[in-house]
Amino acid sequence: MHRIAVVPGSFDPVTLGHLDVIERAAHIFDEIHVLVVHNPSKAALLPVAQRVALIEKSISDAGFEGTIKVTSWSVGLLVDYCTDVGASVLVKGVRSQVDVAYETPMAIVNRNLAGVETVFMLPDPAHAHVSSSLVRQVASLGGDVAPYVPAAVANFLQSPARA
Ligand code: PNS
Repeated sequence: MHRIAVVPGSFDPVTLGHLDVIERAAHIFDEIHVLVVHNPSKAALLPVAQRVALIEKSISDAGFEGTIKVTSWSVGLLVDYCTDVGASVLVKGVRSQVDVAYETPMAIVNRNLAGVETVFMLPDPAHAHVSSSLVRQVASLGGDVAPYVPAAVANFLQSPARA
């Protein structure tokens, strides 16, 4: 059986915590789809296509093994994408009880809607405090985001053209 899992998120931008979850999910499942989902409740820093490109570059730079595709989704339910591509599992990183509380209702609804299971993955403790919102805040105030994001993202956010 060829097991496909989707790792969804805003990835605005992708962090070292996200990359850790993607790499570990790729060891468990046969095929991973990293899915950039537009979340209308969050003010975006980067266009979706830029987020996809930065994830692709970060995965390529890291040399992860396994089949990892990066794409985006903006119309309809997340589980519709899963059904379209034959994915039966969503993988979500959970850093804290706050994340568990946020993710639990969505996991139940996604299973009710389409039988798609959610696997919660604990982060490497080194990345447990890292979030995209923290990175956006540090970057917007001119701080160094290199400890929290892949080099491709740090270079992009700190490039003179964006200053
Ligand atoms: O990185 P984020 O912002 O925490 O990711 C949240 C995301 C995009 C994964 C979440 O908002 C989501 O699952 N959106 C899909 C919308 C959907 O299908 N909703 C109905 C069932 S919960």
